[in-house]
Amino acid sequence: MTGRRKLIAGNWKMNGLKAQLGEVSAIAALASERTDIDVGLFLPATLIAAAAPLAGTMLIGGQDCHAQDSGAFTGNVSAAMLTEAGAGGTLVGHSERRQYQHESSADVAAKAAKAHEHGLSVVLCIGETLETREQGDDIAHGFVADQLIASLPEGADPSWLTIAYEPVWAIGTGKVATPSQIAAMHAALRVALVKALGDGPGNAMRILYGGSVSGDNAADILHTDNVDGALVGGASLSAAKFGPIIAAA
Ligand code: PGA
Repeated sequence: MTGRRKLIAGNWKMNGLKAQLGEVSAIAALASERTDIDVGLFLPATLIAAAAPLAGTMLIGGQDCHAQDSGAFTGNVSAAMLTEAGAGGTLVGHSERRQYQHESSADVAAKAAKAHEHGLSVVLCIGETLETREQGDDIAHGFVADQLIASLPEGADPSWLTIAYEPVWAIGTGKVATPSQIAAMHAALRVALVKALGDGPGNAMRILYGGSVSGDNAADILHTDNVDGALVGGASLSAAKFGPIIAAA
């Protein structure tokens, strides 16, 4: 299936003050030159309202949203709040949230469904720890495919949902999965998606790779089978580092 448009997405995590809005503008300028791919930045919630008017064709997203519409959930951000601030999408299920906020795959599925209900596109993250990977490739493929299926929201559809495979051991470590490891995992995830959603939607859903993607390795990763883009942390914080990754797509 060739119809999948690549998405190059940056995840700023808990980085970014108003002083960095110039980088948002600079990245938006690079994005506007590429009508053949999608580019997005998943920003701290506090920057979204200021970043949205600078974004042009680039997607601005949040990094999480709550599964409830509103209520007594101190410190959380709702999907409606993200939408009102000017976001067009959100991440859910990032491994840092699964680890530090103890989010289960059921929580992640509920968040994704709520985000969609409020008109947000969703990038749903999955991935195995080093401990699981060390048990062997087949175990890792099975673990991540199961995590994907358990995290898929009701009504999952490629028109609004993208998957991001991010091995936990490759995030922020400078240790990248090899193209053959990535190809094998993405193939296993493609099979799982086709089984869960049927041929059409299962083949049309994008699967991004994330984990220490940089200007040096992006071309190899992005030309790997079934890799429909990248989710980039550290190297998305400046146009100087993110630009070469966008250019490699
Ligand atoms: P990294 O982060 O590119 O800094 O490894 C990726 C991510 O967590 O999305």
